[in-house]
Amino acid sequence: MITAQEFARRRRDLMATLTKNSIAILTAAPEQVRSRDTYFPYRQDSNFFYLTGFHEPEAVLVLIPKRPQGQFILFCRERDRSREIWDGRRAGPEGARELYGADDAFPIDDIDEILPGLLEGRDRVYYALGRNRTFDTRLLDWIDGIRARARSGAVPPDEFVDLDHLLHEARLFKTATELKVMRKAGAISARAHCRAMRAARPGLYEYQLQAEIEHAFASEGARHPAYGSIVGGGANACVLHYVENSAPLQDGDLVLIDAGCELEHYAADITRTFPVNGKFSAPQQALYEVVLAAQMAAIEAARAGNHWDEPHRVTVKIITQGLVDLGLLKGNVEDLIARNAYTDFYMHRAGHWLGMDVHDVGDYKVDNAWRLLEPGMVMTVEPGIYVAPDNRKVAKKWRGIGIRIEDDVAITRKGPEVLTAGVPKTVADIERLMAL
Ligand code: GLY
Ligand code: MN
Ligand code: MN
Repeated sequence: MITAQEFARRRRDLMATLTKNSIAILTAAPEQVRSRDTYFPYRQDSNFFYLTGFHEPEAVLVLIPKRPQGQFILFCRERDRSREIWDGRRAGPEGARELYGADDAFPIDDIDEILPGLLEGRDRVYYALGRNRTFDTRLLDWIDGIRARARSGAVPPDEFVDLDHLLHEARLFKTATELKVMRKAGAISARAHCRAMRAARPGLYEYQLQAEIEHAFASEGARHPAYGSIVGGGANACVLHYVENSAPLQDGDLVLIDAGCELEHYAADITRTFPVNGKFSAPQQALYEVVLAAQMAAIEAARAGNHWDEPHRVTVKIITQGLVDLGLLKGNVEDLIARNAYTDFYMHRAGHWLGMDVHDVGDYKVDNAWRLLEPGMVMTVEPGIYVAPDNRKVAKKWRGIGIRIEDDVAITRKGPEVLTAGVPKTVADIERLMAL
């Protein structure tokens, strides 16, 4: 559980990096219409939530370091008895102060009157321009309004600085509490994958396996998947972000499930690939062992001091070698790597940062060089091999097989900690679980 103290510490840490006499402004995520009068489930913007824990739409966070009357200001929807009967409870400015620790809180409808006064006289505005065009325009209008009063002594801010970079660097390093939540998200997601493995059988539709997984997420308190669950039987596994999930599972095929829950706004991201009927065929197993060897070696390489690209490099080497050994690629391994021959079969990178966003924030390069892995970072390790069903350059038995194995790994002082180890991934362990 991320406590009020931790949210306060995040604001304090961020404000300590802002320049003197500055102001930072962040907007809540807008609601998204799904179809007339109905909305997609609301998900707060990760940066906004990271600093507030506030989960309502139509809110604006303002941070003003060293402001004597208070540094943490929240604009939010007012309490409204009739709207709350229809659409749900609201904290209101009173709740923003009492429950979320705001020093000052105002109705969002009053922002035009109040925010220009807070902007006036500041030297610098920290704000992520370009992410919310409607709000960008309003902000520029407020600043124009201050400029128009310059002759009567109003001083507009003269510098805009992107807030994302500072915030994203902070979010990249997970605290002990964040890791605890991510461990739990990983464990819930792992159990959900086990449930899907046990439920799989020929004739079941992909969306029915999706239902098994998402049922397990929700029943353990993780109410939403962190991203659209991918359930691809047979050649559907070769579509990397296949989310149709509409086909029946065939006897003799593999099925790839890439799904993870979101818990307290933190994502898990797991992929497992297993036989629909519980038993790998020889060609399936041969390719699977290559991906697994690459994945395990890459996890070993996910260590403090190694650079970000090292786990990926390891997977490229093992996968290229494996494809040569099995006859899918021909030639010298070094040459094949140099001319990226493996990308016909392995066309994505070995992983990404993981956190509040599934493809989490944080730079991968610093000063144009891959950054070094450090304790507190969390990443996925997810190599794959995908043989297009129409690839006539390889023997027929390989065609249409798609395999990815993905775990979530925290970089710790003691080495890689796999947060998603609760779901089996060796051929023997998967077949054993599926036989139960
Ligand atoms: N689930 C998206 C990914 O693995 O990157
Ligand atoms: Mn994934
Ligand atoms: Mn991933």
